[in-house]
Amino acid sequence: MNLIQNTAQQLLKKAVEIAPDSWVPGGTPDPLLDRRDGPVGTSTARVDGAAKVRGQARFAAEFPLANLAYAALVHGTIAKGRIAALDTAAAEGAPGVVLVMTHANAPTMAPMPMFMTAQKAAAGEGMAVFQDDRIHYDGQPVALVLAETQEQADHAASLVRVTYAPEDAVTSLAAARARGTEPGSFLGEPMKKETGDAEGALAAAAHRVDAVYRTPRLNHNAIEPHAVTVAWDGDHLRLHDASQAVAHTAWSMAQVFGLSEEQVHVTSPFVGGGFGAKTMWRHHVLAAAAAKLAGRPVRLALTREGVYRIVGGRTLTEQRVAIGARADGRFDALIHTGLTVMSHHNNFPEPFILGTRCTYAAGAIRLDVEAARMDMLPNTFMRAPGEAVGTFALECAVDELAAQMDFDPVELRIRNEPTQDPTAGTPFSARHIVEAWRMGAERFGWRARDPHPRSRRDGEWYVGLGCATATYPYHRMPGGAARITLTRDGRARIDTAAHEMGMGTATTHVLVAAERLGLAPERVTVAYGDSTMPGTILAGGSQQTASIGSAMLVATAALVKALLALADQDSPLHGLRADDVCARDAGLCKRDDPDRFETYVSLLERAGKDELSAEGTAPPPLEAQHWSMHSFGAIFCEARVNAVTGEPRVTRLLGAFDCGRIINPRTAASQFRGGMIMGLGMALMEETHFDERRGRIMNPSLAEYHVPVHMDVPEIDVIWTDIPDPRAPMGARGIGEIGITGVGAAVANAIYNACGKRVRDLPVTLDKLLAGADDGA
Ligand code: MOS
Repeated sequence: MNLIQNTAQQLLKKAVEIAPDSWVPGGTPDPLLDRRDGPVGTSTARVDGAAKVRGQARFAAEFPLANLAYAALVHGTIAKGRIAALDTAAAEGAPGVVLVMTHANAPTMAPMPMFMTAQKAAAGEGMAVFQDDRIHYDGQPVALVLAETQEQADHAASLVRVTYAPEDAVTSLAAARARGTEPGSFLGEPMKKETGDAEGALAAAAHRVDAVYRTPRLNHNAIEPHAVTVAWDGDHLRLHDASQAVAHTAWSMAQVFGLSEEQVHVTSPFVGGGFGAKTMWRHHVLAAAAAKLAGRPVRLALTREGVYRIVGGRTLTEQRVAIGARADGRFDALIHTGLTVMSHHNNFPEPFILGTRCTYAAGAIRLDVEAARMDMLPNTFMRAPGEAVGTFALECAVDELAAQMDFDPVELRIRNEPTQDPTAGTPFSARHIVEAWRMGAERFGWRARDPHPRSRRDGEWYVGLGCATATYPYHRMPGGAARITLTRDGRARIDTAAHEMGMGTATTHVLVAAERLGLAPERVTVAYGDSTMPGTILAGGSQQTASIGSAMLVATAALVKALLALADQDSPLHGLRADDVCARDAGLCKRDDPDRFETYVSLLERAGKDELSAEGTAPPPLEAQHWSMHSFGAIFCEARVNAVTGEPRVTRLLGAFDCGRIINPRTAASQFRGGMIMGLGMALMEETHFDERRGRIMNPSLAEYHVPVHMDVPEIDVIWTDIPDPRAPMGARGIGEIGITGVGAAVANAIYNACGKRVRDLPVTLDKLLAGADDGA
């Protein structure tokens, strides 16, 4: 960005900050906020639940197309260099093989549009695929085999022989750091930030902690591995995808193949988990290229190992957190800085300082993220990128300070509660974290905690309690849109290019639309997962609900206008304006005279219409600049550490969340729990083993990369404040990611309280608990 653009952006930002509330979206609170007797807030089973249980929900790798060919990939095994020779003869001669595609015969294709380089850019890396002999990371596909069956493709792929000309690669953190670092930015803004003289304040502080925390690489392990089924019809491309960005992917594939956006149709009705990884990666391009070469439809379903090889995960971090405090616990200095790594072909420095921007008041704050580059698969988003690992460092440091000062960790946090955003200076839209702490502590039985490690023992097991703050921002990205269609049978359908990855999006918006339109939820359907529907909506940043919600406010207003235009002399609504009416009982009525009422069906019938549609586009998302909009939570954990073996176990977990209004308690509780289970995995077991000599991921399977199984997961208690955010659509700030945040620290802090050992690098495994001296008691 040049200086003029930068200055213009800064000016615009300032203008949005100081604009009157009424000029900003959310300035007039959503009318839904005040209602408590409608469908919103009622515990509702997933509308797609029955189809999933019956096996009727069709996922990307399940679309049966005539004459389908199956693809398998050959992954490269060096971190950097060239393909010197490729021997594909044996593969080509193997039974059932249709073709072998390499850089030598692949069609000409443009590079993949990398995320954040354009509004609809969907790819995790910005590389061209199969256009030359260069290798940029270990695991990069070097050949694709297409065959009549998956087994034949897999077998033939094993027959491809590759000779490499390796080059020196940077595959260790030490080597990457030695080559220099660059300042990290997030969403186009530098992450470096300083208010006051934090180092000076730290040095002068009466009490201080200053420690380094490390988090490892993590891989995505959605239950549904990435897959795509593609078909060409002339110069039109059809993709059955597993996607959290259908419209972005359609546009991005169009760029790669030199098509117009309209020539690409991406659908994704069901997704078996996304978590930031179900964007666009090489397999999309390879499948479409192979289908073009072969002249027939192609399915490319990645193996579990294939996901590890070509889909990025969370990168490693090394974070310093230093806090200086007065005797009364108030922070004079808060420093959160450190290093992360990314590849040469992406730009995603894990933004671990994000949560620290808004969580605590402090006299001086210093934040900085530096990034080093390595020859590796580009890293990407993974549930609460930034906060998931950043809250581990920050919230462990707060716990260390509390222990040092003999302060209750909950009270120390409440003591440092800010009255406005500590770094942005803007007012909070709504912040009820203290309520969350109080209700969580009460329910969890926090009072019973003994602050001294090793004070509670149950046979071989030390038992401890710990806590941490969870936080994730409210986001709403540009591009939200939705269409409402009323039909003469008294039903409504919503169309929006959104996604259902298992979180309950369709169910949530059935409730919201039903309430807005005064319809019974059974009369509303939400259609989604189709790039031809309105909007460019990312199921990411926990923002999909706000994005759809904001568009639906506009669409509903447009629909009411269109309905009133149908209200001729014979209608009780004749002559009324949109502001005069509201929805009830499957129709509209005059606000201050509810008996002046007519149903939608009656309005449509008299006008001789079978259906009536209205579309809405969300306004630019300025509210998040005008107000500081963040969700918070208080995480409590009970952990046990075996005194003999060092084995850690989590036996109780509670999350008390402050995320605005909860629209569907049933799916919300499930989403919070899912996030917390991912946090538990991060705390105790998940770790991608990366061979620093060769740059190769060594544990690309669920046998060796451990995620929590049922036996690892205790009963998880989830509660919430349910206080609407007056600035967010429906009063709801989004709940997809916050569950994972804070959990790593709550577990590590509980383990410290149990056994007296501080482990500052995740995961907390028994070898680390057995090693070295204790830190406490
Ligand atoms: Mo989420 S990591 O923004 O899909």
